Amino acid sequence: MKKIKVSAPGKLMLFGEHAVVYDRPCLVTAVDQRLKATVEITDDNMFCLDAPEVDIAGYQKPMDCLGTGEIPSGAKFVEFAVKNFIEKYPLTYGVKVTTASDFSSQFGFGSSSASTVCVLKALSELSGKKLDNKKLFDLSYKTVLDIQGKGSGFDVAAAIYGGTLYFVTGGKVIEPLTINEISLVIGYTGIKADTVTIMASVFEKMKAQPERVERIYDAIEKLTEDAKIKMLEGDWERVGKFMDFNQEYLRDLGVSSEKLEALILAAKHAGALGAKLSGAGGGDCMIALVTNDTRKFVESAIEKAGGQIMHVKPNAKGVRVEV
Ligand code: MEV
Repeated sequence: MKKIKVSAPGKLMLFGEHAVVYDRPCLVTAVDQRLKATVEITDDNMFCLDAPEVDIAGYQKPMDCLGTGEIPSGAKFVEFAVKNFIEKYPLTYGVKVTTASDFSSQFGFGSSSASTVCVLKALSELSGKKLDNKKLFDLSYKTVLDIQGKGSGFDVAAAIYGGTLYFVTGGKVIEPLTINEISLVIGYTGIKADTVTIMASVFEKMKAQPERVERIYDAIEKLTEDAKIKMLEGDWERVGKFMDFNQEYLRDLGVSSEKLEALILAAKHAGALGAKLSGAGGGDCMIALVTNDTRKFVESAIEKAGGQIMHVKPNAKGVRVEV
């Protein structure tokens, strides 16, 4: 039987979170911590999943029951990915998936979207359909929406395309940016953010104060556009300032937290060019833009403030078949 191993990177949001859910752009970079999936064709017409990083062992069900019944949360993305693939491209065999991750699903690096992308890429190769990146994006994004109901798809795009991207909601624009190096320090708050709940709270705020929230999104959009230009020019001082402004808007949206603020303040006091939360907020990670001279001061300040430094590199390669 045929077997393939695929890997996809995690991601970090640089600019534009939340606004990107509502038809605005964002800037995202793929990180060198990867999710790996081994996908095997079997002759028993069963779907089997082992995903130790999300506590799934020996999970299985018939291929024609995918998406039905009680599904453990750690299995949802992979199961719906297989379901969506076979609805479009029927398979006459079973599928066994085993995943492994360089990073914990706690960090907010996008392990669910990376596993979705890995499985769909693997099936696209094994079945001979060889989907191009846009088709892979559309099917992966559909899978994420089936489960989460809401989301921009930026994490799916980062997992597929890699590098650093200018991205507009739903993949309306996916533009790879040529940026050599982004010097980031990443601080983990120790708190797992619940993206879906935070997105729902932002949606409630939008319903209560539509004009105010739209104004915030417009301002974030402008910052993201300007940050894109300055990143391409390598004007990191300006990019840092824009990060600080973006953080102010995120604070206004109510998605920052005491711990995030403490790590951001510590990074700024230690000389970071800019600092902000990255992702949904409420927890997960913050990012600080540094120079070679300030990196170690910023790292130790974040640690002193109770954060954990995540040693990840931006601009990582997108999904690929491993040999
Ligand atoms: C979550 O990491 C980032 C959000 O903008 C959601 C999304 O873009 O799907 C809050």
